[in-house]
Amino acid sequence: MEPFAWLSCPDPKLAEALDYLAQHPGKQLRSRLTVASAELIAGESVPAAVMAGEAIELLHTYSLVHDDLPAMDDDDLRRGQPTLHCAFDEATAILAGDGLQAAAFQRLTEIEALSAEQRLDMIGVVTKAVGFHGMVGGQALDLAAEHQAVPVNALRDIHHLKTGALISASAEVGAICGGATRSQREALVRFAKAIGLAFQVTDDVLDVTGDSASLGKTAGKDERAEKSTYVSTLGLEGAQEEADKLLNDALDALAEFGEAAEPLRALASKMVHRET
Ligand code: IPE
Ligand code: IPE
Ligand code: MG
Ligand code: MG
Ligand code: MG
Repeated sequence: MEPFAWLSCPDPKLAEALDYLAQHPGKQLRSRLTVASAELIAGESVPAAVMAGEAIELLHTYSLVHDDLPAMDDDDLRRGQPTLHCAFDEATAILAGDGLQAAAFQRLTEIEALSAEQRLDMIGVVTKAVGFHGMVGGQALDLAAEHQAVPVNALRDIHHLKTGALISASAEVGAICGGATRSQREALVRFAKAIGLAFQVTDDVLDVTGDSASLGKTAGKDERAEKSTYVSTLGLEGAQEEADKLLNDALDALAEFGEAAEPLRALASKMVHRET
């Protein structure tokens, strides 16, 4: 998958910034979730889900570019290279993020293999996931929770919004591309909500247990920035146990799919038990 391949921009600096992002596209786990969800439902490969997955990776990349800005997490390393605002400047990073978000929705409108109704359905799911009641709202709550002890219920809500919402939407978009029934779609959403939360719990754990070279981002940053995380709230072991519990919840939600869901189960385990 090459989510950045079709992007261009008349401004040379912004175009160069897009090339810079394309060099290190990340693990692309969200798009794999989209594709695996679609294939589970359709029982065969689903090219539309690859395009939809690319759109989701563009949104995710935008969220990281903005997450790293000095006014937000203020990070200088991402995907093993200097963050976009460090390699270029803040205006370029802000505009690249804005443009990536728009490009993602453009991409979703252009999936010709899907009906207009399916495209609208996907766009509805994704806009909700990244908006005020999704990622953006979660990012605001995350910043507001710095320098204080937050109860685990509140932290769960923050993590569901800032990270879980897009991951859940990734699976739901796959369900739409694959032509899922209502109950299949609901099961996939239940699965992906649990995986989405577990994914951020693991991210919190890796910030403590990982090193910057393998993570490709600055380790130990959460503690230094006094972020509210699952580790600061439940301790390292408590957070790891929570991630395992959530993975089990997620796998339970796939029971009805039987053997056919093995690829999705493997992906889910990888998303939770990862080292980067
Ligand atoms: C990092 O996401 C940010 C979170 C939401 C936890 P990933 O770990 O998927 O980052 P990339 O895309 O592989 O760089
Ligand atoms: C990121 O959470 C959530 C986003 C929506 C981007 P983090 O701030 O913990 O992600 P990293 O650790 O910087 O990748
Ligand atoms: Mg952040
Ligand atoms: Mg961050
Ligand atoms: Mg983190």
